[in-house]
Parts: sequence; structure tokens; C-alpha cells
Amino acid sequence: MPPASDLSTSGAGAPDVRPPTMSAARSVHTAVVWAALARVAAEAHEPLDVLDVGGGTGGLAVPMAQLGHRVTVVDPSPDALASLERRAGEAGVSVRSLQGDAAGLLDVVDPASADLALCHGVLEHVDDVEPALAALVAALRPGGWLSVLVANRHAMVLARAVAGHLAQARAALDDPDGRWGPGDPLPRRFGEDELLARLAAAGLTVGAVHGVRTLADLVPGSAVDHDSGTAELLLDLETATADHPAFRAVATQLHVLARRD
Ligand SMILES: C[S@@+](CC[C@H](N)C(=O)[O-])C[C@H]1O[C@@H](n2cnc3c(N)ncnc32)[C@H](O)[C@@H]1O
Repeated sequence: MPPASDLSTSGAGAPDVRPPTMSAARSVHTAVVWAALARVAAEAHEPLDVLDVGGGTGGLAVPMAQLGHRVTVVDPSPDALASLERRAGEAGVSVRSLQGDAAGLLDVVDPASADLALCHGVLEHVDDVEPALAALVAALRPGGWLSVLVANRHAMVLARAVAGHLAQARAALDDPDGRWGPGDPLPRRFGEDELLARLAAAGLTVGAVHGVRTLADLVPGSAVDHDSGTAELLLDLETATADHPAFRAVATQLHVLARRD
């Protein structure tokens, strides 16, 4: 496993930021996360046991399996798992799929069995964050990495304001869960300080923090979809700004790599 200092998503030696089968436009949204995961995987020099909790339809699980890792997805949704199995079959790879939820993870996987656990877009939805994180940590081998991706509460304030929904922006700023109102589809969002405190309380050492979609959500989709040159420029900007605290503060999502001691 690489030292924390090697987990930057940019600079010399940064791995390819695009999963094997992903288009330039789509990869803008996942570039930073993929680069960080590819770095962890590449520096291990051997196939990893990867556990994707709330992995859904396999958007990252299948590309990880294509790189030769042994991937298990745990998700409560039978529909998502069926789509995952179809996607894996079409890609010609094997991914183990298990029905279960984050807090009950150890009901379906062995403790200390994963080198790398992914928990992307899930902590916003779980009933209670603490038991979910405790189960994720327990599923990791000592020295294993947890990759967490969550919605950034501060970005939502900006997004609502830019869209002209100023009362909702104010509500998101004041709400303890970063929600903009009763119609908000997400149960909670996280600030960076809160997220890092929760990971430390779960017994993890933070190795790297990245902003994800720092600029991508501010650029009109049509510009990226119809012009591969623009997509490449945006990809470069996303990667270059991910480690920058000023951009990270308002990035749509926060990505953290943290290690079980
Ligand atoms: C926004 S999707 C994210 C999917 C995937 N991780 C990704 O990044 O594309 C949220 C996923 O979390 C799953 N989920 C919801 N509640 C969960 C829980 N308590 N434990 C584990 N997964 C959960 C959903 O079924 C869904 O597949």
C-alpha cells in the first residue's frame, strides 16, 4: 500500500484518470476518484480484494475487476445487483454481488478481508453514519484503505444560490445535515471537517482529501458532450484543482482515502 504522500491525483506519475471503458465526457465526473484508486491499486503490485459497499450497478466495481482485482459489491438493492451482474457479464469479468447494507456488512463478508473498501455516495443515505463506518473499518485488513465519496454541504449552498434559489441556499447553510428543504432528495451532506472527524473517530488515518467535480458542474453539459477537446480540458482542470483547498471547499463532492492502522 502506498504512503499517504503518494496519493495526490495530479503531478508526475499520476495514473491514467479514465477507467478502461469510460468516455471522456463521463470520466470528467469520476476522474479524480479513479486516479486516486488507480494509484492505490498500482502501488500494491498485486491484485487486491476490493469491497464496494453500496456499489450499485457497478460503475466502479466493473472497471476495477477489469484491472484484475477481486471485487465484491454489497448493496441492499436487488435491482442494482441484477444490473451489476449484467454489466459485469458484458465486460467479461466476474464480480461477487451480495445483498446487504453498510451497517450489517459483517453479516455478509468476513472481518479483515478487504484491502480496499469503497463507500461512494452511500454515507448520505445510511440510517446512522457511525455503525456504517465501524463495519467498513472492521471489514478492512490492517493497512487497508477506505475510499469515501460524499456530497459536500458547502457546494449545495453555492449551487442553490447560483440557480436563484436563495432561500434554499440559506436553508442548506443553516441545516445541520446540509439539506435545502423538505424536497431535498439527500438525507444528509458533509463538510470536510465533520467528515474527517468521523473517519478519525472510526480509527482511520486520513491519507488524502480531494475535491470532486470542482468545476465540472459549473460547465454546461452540452459543451462537454459535443466537443471532446472541451472534455479533455475540463478533465485536466478537474485533476489540477482537486488537491487545491480553495476549490475543494466548494467541490460538489469530497473524496477521502483513509487507512486502517
Ligand atoms: C448514489 S448510489 C451510489 C452508487 C455507487 N456507489 C456509485 O458511486 O455510483 C447509492 C447506492 O447506495 C445503496 N445504499 C442505500 N442505502 C444503503 C445502505 N444502508 N448500505 C449500503 N448501501 C446502501 C443504494 O442501493 C445505491 O446503490
